[in-house]
Amino acid sequence: MYGSELGIDSVAVHAGREDLAALGVHVPPIDLSTTNPLPDIESGGLSYESMATGGHPTDGGFVYQRLWNPTVARFEKGLAALEGTAEAVAFASGMAAVTATILAAAQAGPGRHVVAVRPLYGGTDHILDTGLLGTTVTYCGAHEVSQSIRPDTCLVILETPANPTLELVDLGAVRVAAGDVPIMVDNTFATPVLQNPAAFGVDLVLHSATKYLGGHGDVLGGVVAAPAEWAGRLRSIRAITGAILHPLGGYLLHRGLATLPVRVRTQQETARRLAEWLTSVPAVRKVFYPGLAECDPEGLVGRQMRGPGAMISLDLAGGFAEATMLTKNVRLFTHAVSLGGVDSLIQHPAALTHRPVAPEARPGAGIVRLSIGLESAEDLKADLAQALGI
Ligand SMILES: Cc1ncc(COP(=O)(O)O)c(C=O)c1O
Repeated sequence: MYGSELGIDSVAVHAGREDLAALGVHVPPIDLSTTNPLPDIESGGLSYESMATGGHPTDGGFVYQRLWNPTVARFEKGLAALEGTAEAVAFASGMAAVTATILAAAQAGPGRHVVAVRPLYGGTDHILDTGLLGTTVTYCGAHEVSQSIRPDTCLVILETPANPTLELVDLGAVRVAAGDVPIMVDNTFATPVLQNPAAFGVDLVLHSATKYLGGHGDVLGGVVAAPAEWAGRLRSIRAITGAILHPLGGYLLHRGLATLPVRVRTQQETARRLAEWLTSVPAVRKVFYPGLAECDPEGLVGRQMRGPGAMISLDLAGGFAEATMLTKNVRLFTHAVSLGGVDSLIQHPAALTHRPVAPEARPGAGIVRLSIGLESAEDLKADLAQALGI
């Protein structure tokens, strides 16, 4: 609705708020009702039927919060407008969104085999590795998708930039390699500000909304932007499994979208400066940052991404001992998992976010991941310098 007419900053501020003036309010109302009065049995029943099978509410209303919530729907509308998809479906966490996506693909596809491009967030890797959802998995590199696909493959899963070492994947090339097999891209690190996978033919665009979309570290959520057919499948699974986002989360995430472009661009500028400086620091063996030429051999920043983002990973020359020292000594950075908030975080993926990943695919012991926040670049640089003993 917005994409072609308004810039992304305008969409971020206004999408999902179209009816507010008519309602006589300036900010979106929060609807906490778990149940809704029914006009009559028949229309209530028809609306229930519509939503339970993945549709929208009809004249019978929202019926029950597990099926539909108007505050959550506002966030979904905003995110779909930013990603350029027909719809979006919001979940109680990023992992609930991953789970529903895998289930939807397994239900719709020719079998339950998933092709997963590594590296992936540890939780996503884990849910595939355990086979908990009745799926089997073939892990592969970005250029091995076509040979990994089998007649029973129902989904290709990938991240770009990937968590934690920020490898970039050429989405157009994967689209060709995957043929008819649906693709899910985890767009958490890029955000819709920097990358719209749907524009490259990706079917399902997933976010851990807990990260940049919320942006303040105070709400857990997940969301999948998708065409109407996929959104219907996801809503049906969400209703059956009870995985809908709480309306307070919906309100906070919708509010977060309004400042998303300005946050991401500012955080990115600081990250760019820090990444360049870090390449000259002897204690750092390698800097992983898509804005550095060696980390973007296929030239995807500019072609696929509108910028390199605000996540940096470092391989420390002193290995685990130095990672321990750095995470202990930082003062302005907080030593904590998660990412994408207004404050800078540092964590050790192998020990934490990627702990469940099989040892051969786990990030190295000297790797730490930085999420750059909105603090002054000079202050963050000074903090890392003192923590590294420079
Ligand atoms: C890239 C990525 N995808 C998915 C998730 C899972 O999201 P959540 O923690 O909201 O369940 C995370 C969490 O760290 C993540 O970093």
